[in-house]
Amino acid sequence: MDKKTVKDIDVAGKRVLVRVDFNVPQDDDRNITDDRRIKAALPTINHLIDQGAKLILVSHLGRPKGTVNPKYAMDPVAKRLSELLGKPVTKLNDCIGPEVKAAVDAMKPGDVILLENVRFYPEEEKNDPEFARKLAEPVEVYVNDAFGTAHRAHASTEGVAHYLPPVAGFLMQKELDYLGKALEDPEKPFVAVLGGVKVSDKIQVIDNLLEKVDTLIIGGAMAFTFLKAQGYSVGNCMVDEPGVELAKDALAKANVKGVKLLLPSDEKCVQLDSEVEVPKGIPDDIEVSICASAAIPDGARCFDIGPASVKEFSEILKSAKTVVWNGPMGVFEKKAFAEGTLGIAKAMAESGATTIVGGGDSAAAVEKLGFADKVSHVSTGGGASLEFLEGIELPGVAALMDK
Ligand code: 3PG
Repeated sequence: MDKKTVKDIDVAGKRVLVRVDFNVPQDDDRNITDDRRIKAALPTINHLIDQGAKLILVSHLGRPKGTVNPKYAMDPVAKRLSELLGKPVTKLNDCIGPEVKAAVDAMKPGDVILLENVRFYPEEEKNDPEFARKLAEPVEVYVNDAFGTAHRAHASTEGVAHYLPPVAGFLMQKELDYLGKALEDPEKPFVAVLGGVKVSDKIQVIDNLLEKVDTLIIGGAMAFTFLKAQGYSVGNCMVDEPGVELAKDALAKANVKGVKLLLPSDEKCVQLDSEVEVPKGIPDDIEVSICASAAIPDGARCFDIGPASVKEFSEILKSAKTVVWNGPMGVFEKKAFAEGTLGIAKAMAESGATTIVGGGDSAAAVEKLGFADKVSHVSTGGGASLEFLEGIELPGVAALMDK
């Protein structure tokens, strides 16, 4: 990576603003249900503490739409961070203004402050320069470790970098190193696996990956749009209608580029009313049958790839040297439809390749299925990793100092 990092600057005794992505899921009682993003920022935080910096952390939580909403206050995050660090974390009730300035002025080296949710101000998402200046006012250095939010040009991710020396944290560096190397200089064969629902959401990713990969595997609900584009009937399976033409273009491009574009050869099907909500409405004891992808019965809905597809895809993954995966193969939340996603995770873990899991649903899947520590890198960015795979330069990254 060609961006300066926390290792390239002297932070001893300095007031350092660290943008982290502590946008973590919570239950109705505000318990954090997944603290991976907090844990992922610990190497940067611990490094800065060890160097004697004064840490002022800032993040968003949820989408409070520019108003103060106690449901999205940072208090549970401060508590969890304090437990993980084994030291006090002072949570402030604002992210700019005199209260913040006074608290920062009173800090000692190694102290940690967590500012209030930066999205309580509408100026954050508008990337308002005056608001960015106010964020920068009490501090001397800016560290961006929020890869998950780097696709947003907001005041705390982009604007503030115009007022302070901006460098990357270790998580940002790791994400850019893994994803960047995969796209720019992958060890071959390079295989990408895409799943999820809508082709139209991922068409830019498909387009960009077709320039780089040797094989593109398409599973999940997205496969039905491709099967329809090839002229097959897909029963009552979900089809992204605007995506059908895009799928045809992608198939043609793969052909021209000599990329193997693989679809599942079989599927796990059920007879289930179209109105039934997925995954919530799927009964645990539902009767499942295997059908060929080219012969999905009328009225059937399919929620996972079948065993022949798992076998075929696994063999390809085992001979790959670089694998990027984004999007589950099926409704993995339900036991009856977890085998496809599990099979891909297992094959990746056993492949010996550099294996990268894009964030969002696929990251949740490898975590739930117990494979998170068996792949090379699980991205903390959902939207950010997708935009990166689209080949877009992320504004939060572009704003950082080059080496
Ligand atoms: C995410 O969860 O993908 C990031 O924290 C960005 O959140 P946003 O989609 O609300 O900007």
